[in-house]
Amino acid sequence: MSLLSARGVVKRYGGLTAVDNVTVDIAQGELVGLIGPNGSGKTTLLNILSGHAQPDAGEILLDGKPCQGLKPEQLAHLGVMRMFQLTRVFRRMNVVDNLLVAGRALGLDAQAALTRASELIDELRLGVVRHLDAGQLSGGQMKLLEFGLCFMVPPKVALLDEPFAAVHPTMKEIMGEFIKSRHANGQTFILVSHDMPVVVELCPRAVCMNAGAVIADASTRDVLNNAQVIEAYLGGHAA
Ligand SMILES: Nc1ncnc2c1ncn2[C@@H]1O[C@H](COP(=O)(O)OP(=O)(O)O)[C@@H](O)[C@H]1O
Ligand SMILES: [Mg+2]
Repeated sequence: MSLLSARGVVKRYGGLTAVDNVTVDIAQGELVGLIGPNGSGKTTLLNILSGHAQPDAGEILLDGKPCQGLKPEQLAHLGVMRMFQLTRVFRRMNVVDNLLVAGRALGLDAQAALTRASELIDELRLGVVRHLDAGQLSGGQMKLLEFGLCFMVPPKVALLDEPFAAVHPTMKEIMGEFIKSRHANGQTFILVSHDMPVVVELCPRAVCMNAGAVIADASTRDVLNNAQVIEAYLGGHAA
């Protein structure tokens, strides 16, 4: 059984079909790259999977159970955790407190939250900035903090929306290592990224969307060599 599935999912905005009859199955432990030109519906699909948008048709199954209609907080408690293209942190709260708040919200007790926060601060190399307000962090450090927020309680599935975009290479490397080592330990991810070398390196499987529809779903190598995928990138708005 799949951990997370979209079945015939449709999302329309006025006359535009942002997600067009998408069916995707994600198994426990997979790290799936979600690619496609700008405007192809990747973020909208993640929004639907995380409860931030409701589909007009189709269903979402988590562990085989329909879960469309649930709110993002409810899905987070069920283990569907979302990272945004634009980072969401409490800017006037320091790094440690941001992590503690996230941990408490996910049901950790104070001691467990402190322990998890320290581990994540080490793993994400945020030690030197742990007492800075999140608003003072660089964009890349803020992204690292957001990884931390998502993993205070490791989710069943982490949905990452372009975590590497406009991030310093050092931070990108830390994120890549984080994803790789978590995946090696069985963590399930969907990773939206335009960074093809990173997708090739990290993701055994890729799903490519174009104009709202899935046009390829196979090994990452095969997807990147698929004629329709190449056409989508060349023909559409530059990625
Ligand atoms: N809230 C919204 N209202 C209207 N149109 C939207 C909204 N969200 C996304 N869209 C449109 O849906 C399409 C897919 O967008 P998006 O999912 O953000 O694509 P991607 O993440 O692949 O770049 C785009 O044409 C975008 O303009
Ligand atoms: Mg997007």
